[in-house]
Amino acid sequence: MSRHIVVTGASSGIGAACARAFARLGDRLSLGARRVERIETASPTDFRQALDVTDPASVARFVEAAIAAHGPIDVLVNNAGLARGTETIATATGAAWREMVETNVLGLLEVTRHILPGMVAARRGHVVVIGSIAAHKAYAGGSVYCGSKRALQSICEALRLETLGQGIRVTSVDPGMVETEFSLVRFRGDAERAAKVYQDTRPLTAEDVAECVVFAATRPAHVNIDTIVVMPTDQASPHHLHRGGR
Ligand SMILES: NC(=O)c1ccc[n+]([C@@H]2O[C@H](COP(=O)([O-])OP(=O)(O)OC[C@H]3O[C@@H](n4cnc5c(N)ncnc54)[C@H](OP(=O)(O)O)[C@@H]3O)[C@@H](O)[C@H]2O)c1
Repeated sequence: MSRHIVVTGASSGIGAACARAFARLGDRLSLGARRVERIETASPTDFRQALDVTDPASVARFVEAAIAAHGPIDVLVNNAGLARGTETIATATGAAWREMVETNVLGLLEVTRHILPGMVAARRGHVVVIGSIAAHKAYAGGSVYCGSKRALQSICEALRLETLGQGIRVTSVDPGMVETEFSLVRFRGDAERAAKVYQDTRPLTAEDVAECVVFAATRPAHVNIDTIVVMPTDQASPHHLHRGGR
């Protein structure tokens, strides 16, 4: 049976790949991102609307319109997120910290708190969080990005406890290096620097991560995939990469 899937940050990278993967299963999609014009829809019934997860009014409008379009939400893919800059704590100005925390942590909570009550009322639902290996291992210049992703681990744990017995599944999909616009955003549009991140190594594709999300979301209702950590074969930790060519 077709399900209603919400994907945040569906205009690029992992979110766009998740949308394509669920579309192939025939699910009904509600897709949001700030660059709404960049959100590809696979079917005329797919719903897309501008969504800024850092703006509570935008989140409320998006969730209300998504439910009006496709009914109760079965799966929420909390994907919208970013890393900004690589400043150390001593050299940062603080603006990028706020942007990362407001998007990755508070934005995710805002979307989730609007959608979760409907899932609890239906006694079924699945909250998927796109975490990161940055949650498992911090690196210099990534204090707040890593911290924001580690916060998501605690949020997932608390969510499982708070919804225990209510039919809600909570999965964290934690990728290593994925070639998307992630580095372009992190380096504020510096394409040359972004390309160097993926040079001579074979990163994951957004599709690789989307397959993990779909795997978790297509298990039987009594099975909760807690965490999927997925890395390129050529990566052993955030900063240990084999650069032997692609
Ligand atoms: N690429 C990696 O190596 C990697 C590794 C581990 C985890 N991740 C995580 O994977 C997720 C997706 O990143 P990606 O790699 O696919 O990067 P991406 O290509 O830059 O995509 C990020 C998406 O998030 C959306 N977004 C950012 N801020 C938003 C906001 N305030 N409101 C709504 N949407 C927002 C962007 O859309 P708009 O700009 O149009 O709003 C875009 O669709 C992130 O949570 C990231 O932390 C990435």
